Amino acid sequence: MKIILVAGARPNFMKVAPVWRQLIKTPDVFEPVLVHTGQHYDDQMSQIFFRDLHLPEAHYQLNVGSGSHAYQTAQIMMGFEEVLLSERPDWVVVVGDVNSTLACAIDAAKLQIPVAHIEAGLRSGDRSMPEEINRLMVDAISDLLFAPSTQACDNLKREGIGNRRIHFVGNVMIDTLFLLAVKADESRILDAHDLSVGEYVFLTLHRASNVDCQDTLRGILSALQILQSACPIAWPLHPRTRYRLSQFGFLPSVEQMDNIKLIDPVGYLDSLKLQKNAKFAMTDSGGVQEETTALGVPCLTLRENTERPETIKIGTNTLVGVRPERIVAEAESVLNGHYKTGRLPDLWDGKTAERIVALF
Ligand code: UD1
Ligand code: UDP
Repeated sequence: MKIILVAGARPNFMKVAPVWRQLIKTPDVFEPVLVHTGQHYDDQMSQIFFRDLHLPEAHYQLNVGSGSHAYQTAQIMMGFEEVLLSERPDWVVVVGDVNSTLACAIDAAKLQIPVAHIEAGLRSGDRSMPEEINRLMVDAISDLLFAPSTQACDNLKREGIGNRRIHFVGNVMIDTLFLLAVKADESRILDAHDLSVGEYVFLTLHRASNVDCQDTLRGILSALQILQSACPIAWPLHPRTRYRLSQFGFLPSVEQMDNIKLIDPVGYLDSLKLQKNAKFAMTDSGGVQEETTALGVPCLTLRENTERPETIKIGTNTLVGVRPERIVAEAESVLNGHYKTGRLPDLWDGKTAERIVALF
């Protein structure tokens, strides 16, 4: 059975790696083919994850690069269609909710090649979010829907998707976390940035609704200015965010905040090390909301909604929105020792890829 695995952007690599590892265990049954769309392309947004996760070089690199949603999606569709026509796989597996996920799912569906979606059924309910459009579209045309939670299964059923297509398999990203959590302890990232265990905040921001809007970003920065005087903030800067900070003229003032450590985007092992040892995390990332829940580290999510409600109901995540007063109040409360503890959601057990591959 020839199975094409598609990866394009940073969070995809952590979701593809466990499935890749599981497929290559039985070479007489599966022939996996890895396709990288090139949506993310900087070494620190792409190649470093191949090294950290021990992924082989992709069989196909489409090199699409950046652009508007329509341009990027169309470029991926044109490149991936050629791959499908020459490889004629039995299945195409897409992960997550990025533009690469959508483009490749559409290509496959139109060529009548079965599509499997890993991380199906997540819904923020917010259609101004480009990822929400991608989720809805991909789930509508996928043949196999691998859901990470029972709520995700319910979301799919509510949209009229038949039970037979839906499988509750757990969270594949947590397979990668369990595999590499100990290895991550070897990372030297804390020393490199003069950070002490339990005495800093880990921050990531890249959501378009937060960083592309000048007023929202200004508000978040005003909260960070106050917080950094109480606790150092380690902030690996996503390229979208660096670009916006610079375009809006905010970068010099952030660079002048003594206790904010601006870092280039870090690899997966460094990211885990930073999360594991943080006092708490502040983020708008989907993956970081999940990883902090898995690690038992408090997380404040700077968004109005989340497609990962189990991290709030069961895990350590709190949705705080983007109003500066609320961000400061919630962060100070954690700094003063008031934070919720959580437990692992169902099937966050490191065996999700095993369950997925058993269903092909
Ligand atoms: C994308 C995904 C988002 C995901 C995020 C993970 C979509 C719609 N968005 O957002 O869901 O959470 O990846 O990180 O698919 N850039 C570089 N170097 C790179 C990659 C990007 O400089 O290697 C810059 C470019 O200026 C580009 C911008 O970042 O225009 C945004 O990249 P893009 O892939 O379009 O969206 P992300 O914000 O990364
Ligand atoms: N991550 C990383 N380096 C960073 C920031 C995040 O390796 O500098 C990891 C993080 O640990 C998680 C994934 O990237 O595994 C999340 O990706 P991202 O936040 O880019 O996208 P999202 O999950 O929001 O789609």
